[in-house]
Amino acid sequence: MKAILCTRFGTPDELEIVDIAPPQAGPGEAVVRVAAAALNFFDTLIIAGKYQHKPPFPFSPAAEFAGVVDSVGAGVTEIAPGDRVMGYMGWGAAREAVVVPARQLVKLPDQLDFERAAGLTVTYGTALYALRQRAELKPGESLVVLGASSGTGVAAIEIGKIMGARVIACASSDERLAFARDHGADATVNYAAEDLRGALKKLGGAHGIDVIYDPVGGPFTERAVRAMAWQGRYLVVGFAAGAIPKLALNLVLLKSCDVRGVAWGAWTRREPQAQHALLTQIVDWYAQGRLSAHVHAVYPLAETAAALKMIAGRKVMGKIVLRV
Ligand SMILES: NC(=O)c1ccc[n+]([C@@H]2O[C@H](COP(=O)([O-])OP(=O)(O)OC[C@H]3O[C@@H](n4cnc5c(N)ncnc54)[C@H](OP(=O)(O)O)[C@@H]3O)[C@@H](O)[C@H]2O)c1
Repeated sequence: MKAILCTRFGTPDELEIVDIAPPQAGPGEAVVRVAAAALNFFDTLIIAGKYQHKPPFPFSPAAEFAGVVDSVGAGVTEIAPGDRVMGYMGWGAAREAVVVPARQLVKLPDQLDFERAAGLTVTYGTALYALRQRAELKPGESLVVLGASSGTGVAAIEIGKIMGARVIACASSDERLAFARDHGADATVNYAAEDLRGALKKLGGAHGIDVIYDPVGGPFTERAVRAMAWQGRYLVVGFAAGAIPKLALNLVLLKSCDVRGVAWGAWTRREPQAQHALLTQIVDWYAQGRLSAHVHAVYPLAETAAALKMIAGRKVMGKIVLRV
């Protein structure tokens, strides 16, 4: 079978497409024929050796996939060959078949196609875990989403609206902000053209901003925290801008606010049953027409390098998917 392999840390152009032996299902495992795999920003880091996880070589990028169960190992009862499923595996999905623990797979409703399903897990999983478990977001609260047109940003907008928040989307261009509004944002700030702190202070009013969802970092973090409400919650989601920000703790003291980390991937390993329930909720919301699972572009597996360059070049709104 075909696989995209990273054999040394480097650029997308150093990835190789090769033939490898298909996997076998061990006890409790399932082999899935991958129809689509989705890429995330962290795939640009993992192949460069700049991510928190450094898999042993050779490995494939792509943390999430959708496809059809091909075979199952001993003891698997929850799924069967022929089932349409989606799943998460950290890395390794950019190949024609994967083997994963069967209990991690989620069955797909008929109306959810493979390309949308492939990209549902990481971004919506992160956003729901962040807003429900970590932020304890309440109806009527204000929610600021930085990098609002990113994969995880648009997921936070849509889930924030489902949870009853007033969503303020922040991004670097008017095109990105129009996209955010189309996905439910109530108000927008162009942080490339406006002073983020001043704009959020105006939008938050005397009360301030209750929850800030930050997958971008860099210079935006402190500007956003300065607009925070009394007992607000700032969510550390990621650092797409490159720089890991430092925060003056007097701001946290003065606002009696919380800085809360969002390590969704680690949480899925610590609480697999809760993660399965969370993904089932996301699939149900999709089936009810409440989530878009927006796909920006689909690339054939052989063009994984071009797909990764789109993400690294800050050119994507929503998800980039590989057709396998
Ligand atoms: N904590 C978790 O569990 C978790 C889970 C998934 C992802 N993440 C993290 O969340 C972040 C976003 O991931 P994603 O896959 O949603 O990313 P994405 O779709 O590629 O979007 C990244 C966004 O960051 C903004 N950005 C600012 N400076 C940038 C730069 N120099 N290069 C590229 N983008 C830049 C861009 O928006 P503007 O142009 O509007 O600024 C862009 O929309 C990543 O840091 C990722 O590692 C964390």
